[in-house]
Amino acid sequence: MQSTCSLSNGTSGAVTITSAVPRHVAIIMDGNGRWAAARGQARTRGHLQGARAVREVVAAAARSEIRILTLYAFSADNWKRPESEVAYLMRLFRRYLAEEVDACAHDGVRLEIIGRRDRLGESLCEAIEAAETATRGGERLHLRLAIDYSGRAAILRAARFLRTDTEAGFDEALARACHMRDTVAVDLLIRPGGEKRLSDFLLWESAYAELVFSDCLWPDFTAGHFAEALREFRTRRRRYGALADAPHPARHAPGVAHG
Ligand code: FPP
Repeated sequence: MQSTCSLSNGTSGAVTITSAVPRHVAIIMDGNGRWAAARGQARTRGHLQGARAVREVVAAAARSEIRILTLYAFSADNWKRPESEVAYLMRLFRRYLAEEVDACAHDGVRLEIIGRRDRLGESLCEAIEAAETATRGGERLHLRLAIDYSGRAAILRAARFLRTDTEAGFDEALARACHMRDTVAVDLLIRPGGEKRLSDFLLWESAYAELVFSDCLWPDFTAGHFAEALREFRTRRRRYGALADAPHPARHAPGVAHG
């Protein structure tokens, strides 16, 4: 079953073409469960099909000028799901890393997992470390998978650093806590699946992100939908609170470099 996947932009009136390609794209992958339910299948089938979409979108991003792609794979709140679904997802992440690591290394894709690691199983942690080590030199695309991730927790962690490490500046503490040492602020945040919320994803980094929502369920999301979101981004006028197109003033998100 193919869903119609129109992108809603929320813009009106005249548009100004601004920067051609976002440097940092973030995606909230949503709709796997509904995709499966619509076919009378188990939710896990939706996740499996979602992994196909991940491969397609990563390949499209690696062919483009995008430098960083951050995918929301598992939120800190997703632990509330049934144990069997959580266990399936953890296996899927491990398999994805094991299967993709060689291709990523070959294609210059640097893999990084952001989020907590202490609640992940040993074998997944090993797969993460192996993938990060093998792809460390990748310069074409920085692919960040957010697993056991919470944007609010990252900000709280920064506040805790500041309490214990009085030497560290605020920017440094935030960069450490939010995995922002070598990244830039989010330019474009895409959410397929019909919902219009941030769900605790990259809260600080998305302060001035352009938001693109799509009714397409994630397993149906293709390189074509991704290209459509990038086209939508090109029509946005980014002003960062100023009156005309302007370079992003760093003060809006300390700790994150801006394009
Ligand atoms: C949200 O859809 C999706 C998730 C919580 C899991 C995301 C995982 C994948 C896309 C699998 C592949 C990922 C990698 C990195 C290999 P949902 O289950 O909440 O959907 P629903 O809102 O329709 O129930």
